[in-house]
Amino acid sequence: MTTDTVQYDPLAEPTAHRVAMLNRDDRLFHIILAQQFDCELIETMCRLAEMIRNIAESKQGNRFLRSLLSHKRAMLYFIQPSTRTFLSFAASCQILGVPYNEVRNPSTSSEIKGETEEDTVHVLSQYFDLIIMRHPVEGFAERMAYKLNSMPRPIPILNGGSGKDQHPTQAMLDMYTLLRNFEPRLADRAHPTLSGNPFAGKTIAFVGDLKRGRTVRSLSYLLAQYAGMRLIFVSPPELGMGEDIIEYLDRHGVHHEKSEDLNEVIRSCDAVYMTRLQDEYDQAGESSKIDYYKYSLTVEMVEATKDSLVIMHPLPRRQELDVRLDTDRRAKYWAQVRNGMWMRAAMIAYIFNVDATIIDHYKTSYTA
Ligand code: CP
Repeated sequence: MTTDTVQYDPLAEPTAHRVAMLNRDDRLFHIILAQQFDCELIETMCRLAEMIRNIAESKQGNRFLRSLLSHKRAMLYFIQPSTRTFLSFAASCQILGVPYNEVRNPSTSSEIKGETEEDTVHVLSQYFDLIIMRHPVEGFAERMAYKLNSMPRPIPILNGGSGKDQHPTQAMLDMYTLLRNFEPRLADRAHPTLSGNPFAGKTIAFVGDLKRGRTVRSLSYLLAQYAGMRLIFVSPPELGMGEDIIEYLDRHGVHHEKSEDLNEVIRSCDAVYMTRLQDEYDQAGESSKIDYYKYSLTVEMVEATKDSLVIMHPLPRRQELDVRLDTDRRAKYWAQVRNGMWMRAAMIAYIFNVDATIIDHYKTSYTA
């Protein structure tokens, strides 16, 4: 006799249910999916990042921030390479006084003796209060979040990049960068509250490997929260945006179009988001046949753009972004790197419920 057993897969649940399982008491508990953020939460996090940034300008402010979470410990479990995400999370832990440890090479852990990655994460959850995780497999961080929910010591997991799928903390720092440019009042100490829709009427181009670029996928989910925007996807036909994202944008009424001509598109853009070829996900070197650098951004191309164009790239870059643009006033990718540290500090502060303390301190010390 055979019995058919169907394995329960939480990732097959509707997104709203998955989001509910990642939250607790109407707040984020884990940060795994960009779909966990609505406009209000995006702007809350951006304002919090801005306040932390301002508070950290003084020695006294730094002392206050470092006192907030010195009783918590974080593990940076990064088994896929990273410079920015790893270091900005490390720096944001330091800003908030969170001692942290790291596993970057599983060959130095007991995984080399056959311990599964699942067991490794369970072990980490016994020593630390937060796991910040980068993993090459889509869904691994999410599955571990659900597993930890049912363990005696559930702790939050922050997704620092999950395969080709999502990079929600990068997308949040990208939103912070866009808002700092589209809504200058965000950085105005006297006006920490936004009003209206800063994305209305804006045109944003995503360029490059949109199929396997997890940053553009997560950023699409966040931008879809805002109405009245135009997204243009510029990519080789083989590396176009995934159908799941296209369907999501359609459901949210976001205007989107495709192009292969960056030179033409760039003239009408308010922001352009360049991306690297994600050839680490090639099966058999297939992307070597693609003329990827036909979709590069050069100094000559930005001569005919809006003066206020926001040039972004999650980095690392290759030849798709001309190094001569580095000193152009429109280049915001170095600011993006720094914004990541403040946004990630805001996320850790929020997860550990010290956001209200920071807001109170800011209001008392920095506003009239
Ligand atoms: N943008 C980004 O995720 O960079 P790293 O891979 O260096 O973390």
